[in-house]
Amino acid sequence: MGKDRSGAGSEGGVRTVTAIEVKPPPDRLYGRAKGHKLRPRQEKLLAVTLPRLAVDLKDPVGSFGFRPAVLWLEIGFGGGEHALAQIAAFPGIGLIACEVFENGICSLLSRLVPDGGEADETLPANLRVWPDDARLLLAKLPDACLDRVFLLFPDPWPKARHAKRRFVHPAMLPLLARVMKSGATWRVASDDPTYQAWVRSVMAAQTLFDAPPPAGTRPMGWPPTRYEAKALRSGRLPLYWTFSKLG
Ligand SMILES: C[S@@+](CC[C@H](N)C(=O)[O-])C[C@H]1O[C@@H](n2cnc3c(N)ncnc32)[C@H](O)[C@@H]1O
Repeated sequence: MGKDRSGAGSEGGVRTVTAIEVKPPPDRLYGRAKGHKLRPRQEKLLAVTLPRLAVDLKDPVGSFGFRPAVLWLEIGFGGGEHALAQIAAFPGIGLIACEVFENGICSLLSRLVPDGGEADETLPANLRVWPDDARLLLAKLPDACLDRVFLLFPDPWPKARHAKRRFVHPAMLPLLARVMKSGATWRVASDDPTYQAWVRSVMAAQTLFDAPPPAGTRPMGWPPTRYEAKALRSGRLPLYWTFSKLG
């Protein structure tokens, strides 16, 4: 994805927050993002294993190995640690995990199948992978189908001129709210001070979600992520929000 994602600088903070009303909605969708050249095993995981976990857009719940009564969505799963922990802890739910970065997708897939088992190793019945921009999936999902959404350590886009790329965005909230059931929860975590201030400000100005203050330590039942561990090692303090869909 974009290279300019770090280095908050002077453009963050208050000016970002006051820009909420005036910035246009996110204008760019991300396709599969490539990092360094893939090894043969990774190529095979993408070509052979990934299609076995495809989301059926006509019937997302029917994509799973069973028809889950509860559907969760993780946006930007990174290396997949959190998604894997959740599907292991909750075999009865269906989790759609989204990620645009090929190396991240391969990292998740490589933990599911051993070398040589790409085509026939049994895959978790309760996991499906959307290897593309989560916003494309949100646009296709039926109304009120999700019970829980995870957005853990989203790319902070700390520069004010990139604020429209942040996933927590006034223009995104109705799109997300449409696909969430009434009372469904949305977990958001961030270690970036600019993004933290942005989330506070965006959520204070909306009426679609109940938005209590964040926790300063990771709540029970939130499996750790790789990015969170990196943040903590660097001395950054994450905040953890749990929003609930109103109405
Ligand atoms: C900072 S990383 C955090 C990864 C993981 N959640 C963690 O905590 O370790 C953010 C991830 O979100 C992914 N991402 C960003 N925008 C996305 C989008 N619109 N749809 C799906 N994934 C996205 C990025 O590729 C990246 O892997």
